[in-house]
Amino acid sequence: MSAAVRVFVPRDSAALAVGADEVAAALQAEAARRGLSIEIVRNGSRGLFWLETLVEVATPAGRVAYGPVMPEDVPSLLDAGLLSGGAHPLHQGLTEAIPFLARQERLSFRRMGVTDPLSLADYEALEGWAGLRAALALDGATIVQQVLDSGLRGRGGAAFPTGIKWKTVLAAEASQKYIACNADEGDSGSYADRMVMEGDPYMLIEGMVIAGLAVGATRGYVYIRSEYPQAIAVMNEAIARATAAGFLGENVCGSGRAFTLEVRKGAGSYVCGEETAMLESLEGKRGVVRAKPPLPAIEGLFGKPTVINNVLSFAAVPLVLSRGPAFYRDYGVGRSRGTLPFQLAGNIKQGGLVEKAFGLSLRELLIDFGGGTASGRPIKAVQVGGPLGSYLPESQWDLPLDYEAYAAAGAVLGHGGIVVHDDTADMAKLARYAMEFCAIESCGKCTPCRIGSTRGVEVIDRIRGNQNREQQVTLLRDLCDTMTHGSLCAMGGMTPFPVLSALNHYPQDFGLAESEAAKP
Ligand SMILES: Cc1cc2nc3c(=O)[nH]c(=O)nc-3n(C[C@H](O)[C@H](O)[C@H](O)COP(=O)(O)O)c2cc1C
Ligand code: SF4
Repeated sequence: MSAAVRVFVPRDSAALAVGADEVAAALQAEAARRGLSIEIVRNGSRGLFWLETLVEVATPAGRVAYGPVMPEDVPSLLDAGLLSGGAHPLHQGLTEAIPFLARQERLSFRRMGVTDPLSLADYEALEGWAGLRAALALDGATIVQQVLDSGLRGRGGAAFPTGIKWKTVLAAEASQKYIACNADEGDSGSYADRMVMEGDPYMLIEGMVIAGLAVGATRGYVYIRSEYPQAIAVMNEAIARATAAGFLGENVCGSGRAFTLEVRKGAGSYVCGEETAMLESLEGKRGVVRAKPPLPAIEGLFGKPTVINNVLSFAAVPLVLSRGPAFYRDYGVGRSRGTLPFQLAGNIKQGGLVEKAFGLSLRELLIDFGGGTASGRPIKAVQVGGPLGSYLPESQWDLPLDYEAYAAAGAVLGHGGIVVHDDTADMAKLARYAMEFCAIESCGKCTPCRIGSTRGVEVIDRIRGNQNREQQVTLLRDLCDTMTHGSLCAMGGMTPFPVLSALNHYPQDFGLAESEAAKP
């Protein structure tokens, strides 16, 4: 009997949402009915979401892709010779040659969709644990230095140098230190953290163990938003398997060093992603922002020194250790080193994950990768960096995607989430939504955010209703100024970014003359 043909059907939430389980079941049943021998592997997603469910078949020439596959396509796919990569309307050719994928620079996402996420053998075969093994031969200060030398900056939004944070925790004297992973991922259009947890969970575990070795922490927590049940399940299973295999626990890889890891389910609020509110939530309290200082690196979880990093920050670390900091640092521009997994979402034809070195332009992402809008209409505005990010008009799409260039233009890269709107978008309505979002999600600790956002909604309503419009615009700018400078955290402090960018770039949507754009 000939060997079973390997057929890959993703188990990522994005694929499950469009029927991947049903496709897998249909393939299994139809192959059995025809006496065909197949082995279905539930891989992670390649991040080509418009092609989900993306089915791949292992052929001697490489993996061949078909998508988007629905359960009812299965008989015709098998008729067409799916198992040997045969021609079919859904045939996409060799997966690695699909332009959306071929043009990327996948470092952190290099295993994404390639492996069975929970297979330790798959992970090990593709450079898994190489960073951890390298780290085990080094002292904490040397690991920290390598992370510093890589130029890695926090991928959660604030872009703070990861190595400096680790250095502070390393230097802190304490009986117990912690590693906390921020997997709250509340940003609109953002899903890279989820993909890592569902599609390559051992990479996150490895990055966190390395952080523990670097700073002398023996316990870690992954704070995952409750809306990610699949990620929570996969992470729990991966932690159990990694512990059984000796990569976690009291004696990591036989080194005599301890590191244990637990998942904590988030409390369902955007502000719980703010690092100090996350600490409160991890401690079982209401997610309210803490005043700084003290920094979490000095007094964090349960009052102990704590490294807090985003999923993508930890995920970049194994490669830095296995290939050396210079390898990572060689990607990128200016002070933005390495790659960022950009996430294309909203009204976009080809939505998905694009990992590229910093420095490309938004236009390249929107057009070359995204293929323009899904509606076929012109793109009007693009919100980069989550709900607190600015709206960018076409005149700004050629800026290099790097932290400093964006800051200079009054925008942020944040976590790399990109939400596209076509020319039917009403920017005054979106500005109102930004204020309303802040009012709903505010933790309530400080007045500019708690009260300011509610007043902001009212002021925008008056502008839209043409009640003393000019005067209300002045009031809105004044209010935004107060929120920017008087808020305790970036929730209230950055809500003016979407509001003012909408007002400044699209004054006509607020019933103002174009000349109003010149008055920011
Ligand atoms: C309102 C608000 C929400 C945030 N949400 C997240 C989040 O979901 N995930 C995240 O990693 N960082 C989030 N941050 C940023 C964190 O406070 C913090 O900077 C980050 O977790 C640090 O990790 P990094 O240095 O690896 O980026 C948020 C910040 C604010 C103000
Ligand atoms: S800005 Fe908003 S979310 Fe942040 S501390 Fe103040 S009230 Fe809380």
